[in-house]
Amino acid sequence: MFKRAAAAVLAGAMIVGLSACSSAGGSSDGKSPGGKIVLGFAQVGAESGWRTANTKSVQEAAKKAGITLKFSDAQQKQENQIKAIRSFIQQKVDVIAFSPVVESGWDTVLKEAKAAHIPVILTDRAIDSEDTSLYETFLGSDFVEEGKKAGDWLVKEYQGKPGEVNIVQLEGTTGSAPANDRKSGFADVIKGDPKFKVVASQTGDFTRAKGKEVMQAFLKAQPKIDVLYAHNDDMALGAIQAIEEAGKKPGTDIRIVSVDGVKDAFTAMSQGKINFDVECNPLLGDQLMELAKKVKNGESVERRIKTVEGTFTPEQATAALPTRQY
Ligand code: AHR
Repeated sequence: MFKRAAAAVLAGAMIVGLSACSSAGGSSDGKSPGGKIVLGFAQVGAESGWRTANTKSVQEAAKKAGITLKFSDAQQKQENQIKAIRSFIQQKVDVIAFSPVVESGWDTVLKEAKAAHIPVILTDRAIDSEDTSLYETFLGSDFVEEGKKAGDWLVKEYQGKPGEVNIVQLEGTTGSAPANDRKSGFADVIKGDPKFKVVASQTGDFTRAKGKEVMQAFLKAQPKIDVLYAHNDDMALGAIQAIEEAGKKPGTDIRIVSVDGVKDAFTAMSQGKINFDVECNPLLGDQLMELAKKVKNGESVERRIKTVEGTFTPEQATAALPTRQY
């Protein structure tokens, strides 16, 4: 058993050593020469504007905090993230943080981190493991709440208006916490009124290209679409292109509610193309570095740290646009 685990650790380390893993200093055994904390961070990928802002926030915060960051981009693949985590264990980093691509399937690798006495922080996305001793804390948004906020907007928007409301849904990456939770939060709210019907729902993998492609298919298959609910702004922006190419007016012919609150979406809102945006804050870097220092020093941290977030109407988005950071 031990031999198998050790072989897996070694194999993972060898592969990741050759892949997208970069560090801002540090030696090959994962220890920083100046005694600085070494944080191994396994990022989901670069699938969206939100993700780019999150990566930038983590990298800048590490520099500011004097933490050596070993950064790995998993390109939206769980197997790459597992390899990266194994490589961090092999390198004996001080702390591991990661934003899990999907919710399930982490116990084995996290048990390896635990056996190596390396504390783990979940950031942005959660895992569904029953063994909560496998990580110290989870820093990130409440995705169920985000889905509920999108649903609440829809219910208000159509209050007192008769007739069926046909909704198409662009889901995030299949099996990811934001896709699961934003879907269930939204469904929970709209189920109270039978006039709301989700007539089609498919993954757009959180990317603009996929969002456009799936929306094109929705437009061909569905005779009447009143509302698009997109699990993130990039998919909404891709869908807007598809809607315009189909000769329809986004925001008017098809009302759009989305999640994230990135600058490009605010621009689209100022042009009347998105009707409501639920904020998901990617600027988690500073909090993450604080937590890394604390867990490295054996200090206790809160098990769950929720990000504070709002919502935006087109008017609010237009006003916020000049100072929006991401
Ligand atoms: O996990 C956060 C989600 O992942 C963001 O909503 C999305 O844009 C990103 O890709």
